[in-house]
Amino acid sequence: MQLRRLVSVLSLGHVITAFQTHADTHEICLSSPLLQHEVHVEQPICAAHTIQPAQNFIQVEPELWDENDERYIPAKDYKLSPPWKGPESCFTEFCIYSNKEIGGSGMVLITAARQAYLAAKFPVPAQSSIEPTAYYEKKIPGKGIGLVANRTIHKGEIIFRALPAMLIQATPHMDLDPEVREDLYRQAVDKLPESTREKFMKQMGDTIYAKMEKNAFRLYTDGDKAHSAHLASYPDVSRFNHDCRPNLHYRLRNLTHITVAVRDIPAGEELTISYIYGQEVKSERQSQLRAWGFECSCQQCTLSEADSAASDTRIRLIKELEEEIESKMASKDRGDAIRPEMGGKLVELYLAERLDTYLAPAFTRAALIYSMFGNEEKAREFATQAAEALVREYGPDARDYGSMKSLAEDPKGHWSWGIKVVSGEGVGEGRNRTRGKGK
Ligand SMILES: *[C@@H]1O[C@H](CO)[C@@H](O)[C@H](O)[C@H]1NC(C)=O
Ligand SMILES: *[C@@H]1O[C@H](CO)[C@@H](O)[C@H](O)[C@H]1NC(C)=O
Ligand SMILES: *[C@@H]1O[C@H](CO)[C@@H](O)[C@H](O)[C@H]1NC(C)=O
Repeated sequence: MQLRRLVSVLSLGHVITAFQTHADTHEICLSSPLLQHEVHVEQPICAAHTIQPAQNFIQVEPELWDENDERYIPAKDYKLSPPWKGPESCFTEFCIYSNKEIGGSGMVLITAARQAYLAAKFPVPAQSSIEPTAYYEKKIPGKGIGLVANRTIHKGEIIFRALPAMLIQATPHMDLDPEVREDLYRQAVDKLPESTREKFMKQMGDTIYAKMEKNAFRLYTDGDKAHSAHLASYPDVSRFNHDCRPNLHYRLRNLTHITVAVRDIPAGEELTISYIYGQEVKSERQSQLRAWGFECSCQQCTLSEADSAASDTRIRLIKELEEEIESKMASKDRGDAIRPEMGGKLVELYLAERLDTYLAPAFTRAALIYSMFGNEEKAREFATQAAEALVREYGPDARDYGSMKSLAEDPKGHWSWGIKVVSGEGVGEGRNRTRGKGK
């Protein structure tokens, strides 16, 4: 039965990442993330029930194109160089790889050979964050340990760039037998340097699995390919408590978790991130946070009834206004019905709602709209703000950063300048311009 299923799956031509034969039972066990995600096999077709040494696994992964070396890497060469160790302690194709030195705090992976190879190749972040004495740990009533500013932390300052202590491929995390899984996770944690292991174990959750569930972030080691989804645990980041209107924004770049201040934070204020997408009405935010296992008690969730209703109204208005702007911009006449005030209104709503972690798109839209109507002062003002917000929220490689910077410096040279200006209205310079090559 299992064999037949295996053969039929094989004939679909999907890539098998590993298989194992049991000499005693003549059983072939196969567990491939690709199969599970793309062919929707919910369980590994057969799961071995013990953790095995690495040699028992035959890797038949596809070759991998190496951009730097400009050559294909055959699967047998998915080797990690020292100080990386592994593969060790495998369960089907998922093995432990560890590096006690990387980033100064060490890292351990539970993943397939190809993903380990890719993960180990990512650049380690440069250490340009604020000094560690700029914040300290403190017990926060009702929330456990939190981090608090020890000086004014300025908007745009990077709190830290962290590498994960543990990186676990999503497939074994979801599919493994809980006992085997916890055993494998325990063996992995034991390979971390002691101070990192302590920080890891301090995170919320009774088991290592629960700690990952509660604290980990999802990232991909191979573009956005489903089978390269991993859970990444950053014990330092776990110390930030939740706020629906946080003072920190975070982003994941390759393996690195980067936290940035989105407003000036006075000494004594707690540093917070949002565990959810904050641009939702209160009832929605609360239901999402209940899934995280707590009742939202942040300032935004404990507003008076009137303020709370006003906040929900703003959230709805923002969505409506954004949809209106989007649909008008996309229409054939390129926003004939757009009015310049729409840009100003959008920014006003975002600021009133204190959505400081999501300002880049609002400023960008506003700057473009004002530029289209030839309003130099407002185009400059919002483009300057947009460029700063883009760096905070997406980093210096943000897609629209160059465009906003040039709009701030030279509005009249920007493709968008004056394209909505008609005779007898607005400024003159824009009138004769034809539309440029676009964004
Ligand atoms: C992410 O990793 C790729 C591949 O190693 C590298 O080229 C790129 O610069 C990295 N991106 C960042 C933001 O570190
Ligand atoms: C807070 O900053 C002061 C210097 O301004 C420093 O002496 C102190 O050690 C810092 N506190 C912590 C907990 O890092
Ligand atoms: C726009 O065109 C009008 C007439 O066609 C001309 O007089 C004016 O100088 C032009 N303006 C610019 C900025 O080119």
